[in-house]
Amino acid sequence: MSTDRPFRIVHLSDLHLTRDDGSARSEPKLFGALRGMNEAFRTIVRSRAVQSANYVIVTGDVTDRGDLASWEVFWEAVRGAGLMDRMAVLPGNHDVCHLGLARLPDRDFRKIDLQRAVAGLKLGCRLTKLPWVVRPDPRVAVFGLNSNNLGNLSVATNALGEVRYYQLKSLASRLYQNRDVPVKIVALHHSPNIPMVETARRRRQRPFGPLERLAFQIPEDQRHGLMLLCVAHRVRLVLHGHLHMREDRRISGVRIVGAPASTEPLRQSGEAKEHGFYVYTVQREGQRVSCRFETVRVG
Ligand SMILES: [Fe+2]
Repeated sequence: MSTDRPFRIVHLSDLHLTRDDGSARSEPKLFGALRGMNEAFRTIVRSRAVQSANYVIVTGDVTDRGDLASWEVFWEAVRGAGLMDRMAVLPGNHDVCHLGLARLPDRDFRKIDLQRAVAGLKLGCRLTKLPWVVRPDPRVAVFGLNSNNLGNLSVATNALGEVRYYQLKSLASRLYQNRDVPVKIVALHHSPNIPMVETARRRRQRPFGPLERLAFQIPEDQRHGLMLLCVAHRVRLVLHGHLHMREDRRISGVRIVGAPASTEPLRQSGEAKEHGFYVYTVQREGQRVSCRFETVRVG
């Protein structure tokens, strides 16, 4: 085991890239939709913090509308930054789900939805069968899940999470197969733990009301099943995106980290924007994994 050097992992999420650089993000905004995601992403992947990382994990919403042209923007930036050999990518609801008003039920929608993300992942020769496991370092195993509500019929249910039994069962087998790897990381798009209002307030984060939680959450039995697997298999980190919110908490010894949208500025002063992302460092033989938040200036 190569334990002489720390192993650094950058966590990016919710890029919402668009086919044209000037296009706006589809999320409705009262004071003007966000633009400039493509350029922000190109700057972030060329930054020193990302360039010096050993590995990068992207927890979904690579694209804003799931189209292949936006995936091409992504892979061109990744290739240009020299990251093709050290990046794992997961689909988010914007990469797979139906974002329109409504569509008539069709039993093939689940397959068709997933196929959109598979086509985008294939452009970069990534793993497309979820859950997958990658071993970027002898000390580290990353397990990727598809947590999206495939086959949804309208924009009202596009953000819901879903991790069905067979995916959890497959994850359980893979966790067991990799039981000797000291640092196990589970990555998915959706949060497995959106706190109740009182807990959110105590953590000084924006509370999600009951309806919002319902719209963004993985169903209770599924997220509880996932957390039980993580506790039982001593998963060190659960990484997610989706809520576009920075959060870092521990549940029964498992550290759960939610990434903000990497291409959405945290702060803006004139033309200069500050973007941020988490960086995890595996020390020695994996006894310690530290987590810090880094920022990059764009513009
Ligand atoms: Fe997103």
